[in-house]
Formats: sequence, structure tokens, C-alpha cells
Amino acid sequence: MTLKADGVRPLVSMREITKKFGGVTALENVDLDAYAGEVLAIVGDNGAGKSTLIKVLTGVYQPTSGSITLDGAPLSMGSHSDAIAVGIDAVYQTLALADHLDPAANMFLGSELTKSFLGFKFLDNKRMRMEAERVLFERLGVRLKSMSVGTESLSGGQRQAVAIARAVYHADLRVLVMDEPTAALGPQETARTLTLIKTLRQQGLAIILISHSLDDVFAVSDRIQVMRRGRRAGVVQTASSSQQEVLGMIVGADAAAA
Ligand SMILES: Nc1ncnc2c1ncn2[C@@H]1O[C@H](COP(=O)(O)OP(=O)(O)OP(=O)(O)O)[C@@H](O)[C@H]1O
Ligand SMILES: [Mg+2]
Repeated sequence: MTLKADGVRPLVSMREITKKFGGVTALENVDLDAYAGEVLAIVGDNGAGKSTLIKVLTGVYQPTSGSITLDGAPLSMGSHSDAIAVGIDAVYQTLALADHLDPAANMFLGSELTKSFLGFKFLDNKRMRMEAERVLFERLGVRLKSMSVGTESLSGGQRQAVAIARAVYHADLRVLVMDEPTAALGPQETARTLTLIKTLRQQGLAIILISHSLDDVFAVSDRIQVMRRGRRAGVVQTASSSQQEVLGMIVGADAAAA
């Protein structure tokens, strides 16, 4: 186990993770440590294994070999719901929101709040809307102009906030993975999303941020894990590194020298 300088134990650790798809080795003996209250960025070229690594972490894929621990206890996850149950969730670039439903309906999709009246169960729309509003504001610092419109009419950044609010509301979320959260956003919305990431870090979550934007990575991350061809090429402290150094690690020493 690699302890941080202050001796704090990682919240989640992956060890020697290998993932093969038939004859393709997507990951080979990859380690990862993420700490509570930090943003760990994962960078690497297309096909380097970033998405596969976090899909293993979020229970979507089962590793061919290797182990994962949460708070030092071994995890065995057969599905994404197993990961959610222990507080590990992900928000993907292709947001799985129902466009025609309003933010609250999206947040509570599949776990709607109900109330009973004369022995019948009804959806408690009022409470869902209030809860959605509360989580968006208290946890994410986001206030939407209207809570009663379909998410299709929201901006990309607001849609993202709704997707994150859904992850934050359910279970006792401890690890949040974000795969390319700013890829489809303009500069202003990107800035808002980066602020939101910092807000969540302050709440003690471990945030794992996959990004192709080194500007974003250097703006919000504490450490950067570089993936190259299915392996971990290295990990640096953001404050004591540079975009140039990280780029060199992404392409590899040979390519950088050429
Ligand atoms: N379901 C799959 N079946 C077969 N091969 C896969 C599958 N998923 C990923 N791979 C392969 O595994 C390798 C790693 O892919 P992965 O999607 O993890 O890369 P990535 O770093 O997320 O890339 P990008 O930056 O393009 O999103 C690639 O060679 C890819 O083709
Ligand atoms: Mg990917």
C-alpha cells in the first residue's frame, strides 16, 4: 500500500488489475489509489485503458485478475449496482438522462419517493422536487431557474449537475468517477463544472477525473495518474509537475525524444 506523505490510507485501492477482452489486453497489472478529499486525474492517449480501468472500479467490468479494496477491505463486485451499494458511482460523458423528464424525476428514476393515502401509494412529486432542489443547492451549489422543465431544455452543464446530483443523492457516495465531464461543454460551463468538482472534493469525496484536457486537469487535480497502452506509466503530484512533463509521460520517453 502506498501511503500519502501524511500517512493517510487510500480510500480505494486497485492492485495489479488486468483486463482482457478476448485476445486484446486492455489493462495489464494496473494499480490505482484514490484518497478521500482529493481529485485524482487519469490521463492517457485514446485506447490507453482509462475507461476500462474505471469500469472495473465501478463494477461494470469484472477484472481478469487483480484486486480492489475500499477502506482496506476487499471488494468483490459483480455489477454496477454492487459498486453503487458500497458508495462508488460514475457520471459519464454520454449522460443517461431521460430528456422529457424534469430534474427531480430524473434524480429519482427507479427509486421514486411515494406517499400513502387511504391505503394507496402515490408518487410524492412535491417532496421529490424539494429534495432535488436541496441536493442541487446544498451539495453542488447549483440553482436551476425552473425545476419543472424537461432536462432537454437545460444547458450541458446543468444536465451534468442533475446527473451528479443523482449520484450524490443515492447511497452513501464516497467515490465519484467522472469520465470526460467537460468534453461537450463551452468555456463558461467548463469553469462551472470545475468549481462543482472542487465543491465535492471539499465534502470529502474521492473524485476520479478522466480528461483529455490538461488545462482542466491542472486546474482541479491533486494528483495525476498517467496511463499508456494499458499500463500505469506513472503518478505525479499536480502541484510539482507540469503539462510538459505529463505530456511526455502520455506519449512515452521514446516518442518524446524523437
Ligand atoms: N468492450 C471491449 N471489447 C474489446 N476491446 C475493448 C473493449 N473496451 C475497450 N477495449 C480495448 O481496450 C483498450 C483500452 O480502451 P479504453 O476504452 O479503456 O481506452 P481509453 O483510454 O478510455 O480511450 P479514450 O481516450 O479513447 O476514451 C483499447 O485497445 C480498446 O480497443
Ligand atoms: Mg475512454
